[in-house]
Amino acid sequence: MDNLKWWQKTLVYQIYPKSFCDSSGDGSGDLNGITEKLDYIRDLGVGAIWLTPVYVSPMVDNGYDIADYRNIAPEYGTMTDMEKLIGEAKKRGIRIVMDLVFNHTSDQHSWFKESRVDHGNCKRDWYIWRDARPDGAPPTNWRGIFGGSAWTFDEATKQYYLHTFAKEQPDLNWENPEVRNVLYEIANFWLDKGVGGFRIDAITYIKKPEEFKDLPADGPDGMSNVHVATANQPGILEFLHEFKREVFAGKDIFTVAEANGVSTEELPQWVGRNGAFDMLLEFSHMDLDMEASSLWCRPVDWKLTKLKKALSNSQRATSENGWYPAFFENHDQPRSVNKFFPYHADQKLVAKVLATVLFTLKGTPFIYEGEELGMTNIKLSSIECYDDIASKGQYEIALQEGFSRQQALEFVWNYSRDNARTPMQWTSEKHAGFTSGEPWLPVNENYDELNAKQELQDEGSVLRYYHRLAKLRQEYDILLIGSYEELLEADEQIFAYRRVLDKNKMIILCNFSGREKACNLTEIEDNGKLLISNYRDAPNLVLRAYEARVYLCEGRNPFEGCSQ
Ligand code: GLC
Repeated sequence: MDNLKWWQKTLVYQIYPKSFCDSSGDGSGDLNGITEKLDYIRDLGVGAIWLTPVYVSPMVDNGYDIADYRNIAPEYGTMTDMEKLIGEAKKRGIRIVMDLVFNHTSDQHSWFKESRVDHGNCKRDWYIWRDARPDGAPPTNWRGIFGGSAWTFDEATKQYYLHTFAKEQPDLNWENPEVRNVLYEIANFWLDKGVGGFRIDAITYIKKPEEFKDLPADGPDGMSNVHVATANQPGILEFLHEFKREVFAGKDIFTVAEANGVSTEELPQWVGRNGAFDMLLEFSHMDLDMEASSLWCRPVDWKLTKLKKALSNSQRATSENGWYPAFFENHDQPRSVNKFFPYHADQKLVAKVLATVLFTLKGTPFIYEGEELGMTNIKLSSIECYDDIASKGQYEIALQEGFSRQQALEFVWNYSRDNARTPMQWTSEKHAGFTSGEPWLPVNENYDELNAKQELQDEGSVLRYYHRLAKLRQEYDILLIGSYEELLEADEQIFAYRRVLDKNKMIILCNFSGREKACNLTEIEDNGKLLISNYRDAPNLVLRAYEARVYLCEGRNPFEGCSQ
């Protein structure tokens, strides 16, 4: 236990500042709003807040397009507010973790403005410029992640620049050592301010392929997702190790990298003793419900065994070396209760099922704002009501693919990132107590009955269930360091596993279906003590619809008398 680091023992809470709490009344959240809510966050048992970008930005992608890495966006406050947040959080045992967006900048960053002046500019090589093809077309057929070509033509200098995401997010050229050095300086600037670590955005895209060439088209637009060409390219680990040496090594902080395109088998190279980071946000368990192609939004049917397998593989891959960041939500995903369960399922029960898994897997639980309340998706009436740049792109792609407007909108309902970005529901007052102004994105209509104030008072609420789980995780070392072993692997209703430490074990049983199912594990029958459940009682070993239970079985050889 003592050899665990602080960030392995704690919980991480992710805040999307624009939607969290508005102290100024302008309709958008801000840093002082976060500071006001620190006690609420501390009471959840949180030791680190991951703050999505708060730097100066034109906000084309809500801050993931940075125009100045060393200053705070005026809509969020000032550097003094930031320092106050860091200090007040520290008093409560919470560290602030900054989001580093280093694959690209905003096109409004002074570096890019200089880079586009002329071919001879000293910042020209800081970005990725290429000539058009003889017919004027973009250099390759790569499609940006938000839709459209990944190349934009610049009239002034008659070349294209590459952008993995929106055209307002030009990719930096990591091959240039000046670029790498200035990025390391920026990260160190924030460490000097006392931050507790970094979430590193879209890092798998920083290394571009040696040759830029067309790829087989994966859609009717004749393009191929840029991801295929640029994610996790050979040589990337060298950059990452340099990054580690220059910034993180030997410091009491943690790093968690967003790593699309890294397989679970590759995890050991990326995390742990010999890896570049402490943790990796990989998406094998999140990408189950859509087609692995150019279209994020095309739904596919998935089975529980797929989810279980993905989670179990990640648990195995990080069991010896490295550490797992457990998560079901973030600012890029729909709400988990709707992603993993049908809309008609009892929302409270299923939110608790996911929470049970989140807290009992081996790793650090990452909670996304509002997840602890069981917040749900929204359905806005037209695409114009959405803010998310990715949703707009996906809507267009769906239309191009021949879907009707209504069908395209339904994809957006299910997959839009705005589902997770609606204002935090604090109270049943106007605008859910989020702002005294007009909220930048509509508040979910269910704030009346689903809000933090009410849930704090209700012992049966999702929020209070989170509190109880957080306490369990503090009480039982087994949840921190016990091994993970999956049970009932082929079962399509029950996700079951045990955590084992010496002679003790915990058995976790979660019914992901709306039908009851007997779950006769003799080890529980023999001496299982129920620690927590989302139902009031547990008369027998039949799990009711969406039931979750955690048992403790103490003091015997864990494998004795156990059958599945
Ligand atoms: C990451 C962020 C996402 C952003 C993208 C571009 O995936 O999580 O919100 O749009 O990078 O920076």
